[in-house]
Amino acid sequence: MKIVAIDGPAGSGKGTVAKILANKCNLVYIDTGAMYRAIAYLTLKNGINKDEEDKIIELAKNAVIEFVDEKVFINGEDVTKEIRTMEVTRIVSPISSIVKLREILVDMQRKIAGNKDVIMEGRDITTVVFPNATYKFYLDASIEERANRRFKENQEKGINVSYEEIKESIRKRDYNDMYKEVGALMRTEDQIYINTEHLTIEDVVEKMRKIIEE
Ligand code: DC
Repeated sequence: MKIVAIDGPAGSGKGTVAKILANKCNLVYIDTGAMYRAIAYLTLKNGINKDEEDKIIELAKNAVIEFVDEKVFINGEDVTKEIRTMEVTRIVSPISSIVKLREILVDMQRKIAGNKDVIMEGRDITTVVFPNATYKFYLDASIEERANRRFKENQEKGINVSYEEIKESIRKRDYNDMYKEVGALMRTEDQIYINTEHLTIEDVVEKMRKIIEE
């Protein structure tokens, strides 16, 4: 059982490289951010406020989250697109600070991995979910570069959000993600640190593939 764990802030390239590496190295890809997003989506859908912790915990306890053919399902509903909206993005980080919710999702993440060879990305994979992972990576880039990547991605998809707005949203999320009580994004000495600032996606993939396979 091989576990490749990747952590890093929003826009550091984790998702993109993890998907490519999963194909190249024959690993099952698990996007844990999508799981927090799916719970945030259900919260909004049920008209629950992000501060109503007990109700959110109840939603999570009864939720079935599945990854099928690069799609994300919650309770049988395909929410692949819905979990990427600005509304979900706005509340996902505060929701992910709920300690009990994290316990439920961490448990689910370990179960989804089972005893398969996986590549899992998020914020606390190298520290909480799989502290004994076979390989642990931390991907990073400056906030300007990360905001710029999101801005370009949005433009390609025809989504009109200004660079400044994206940068501010990432800045808030970084703060929330790094200073939460449990499962905070952090750097540790046993992670392989990769600064992706001046690297192409292919460069990052190649660097990681060499480590994983050689
Ligand atoms: O990777 P992402 O941007 O899709 O993640 C959405 C949010 O979920 C992120 O702001 C923090 C939270 N998250 C988390 O707390 N722990 C994880 N393992 C993954 C994501």
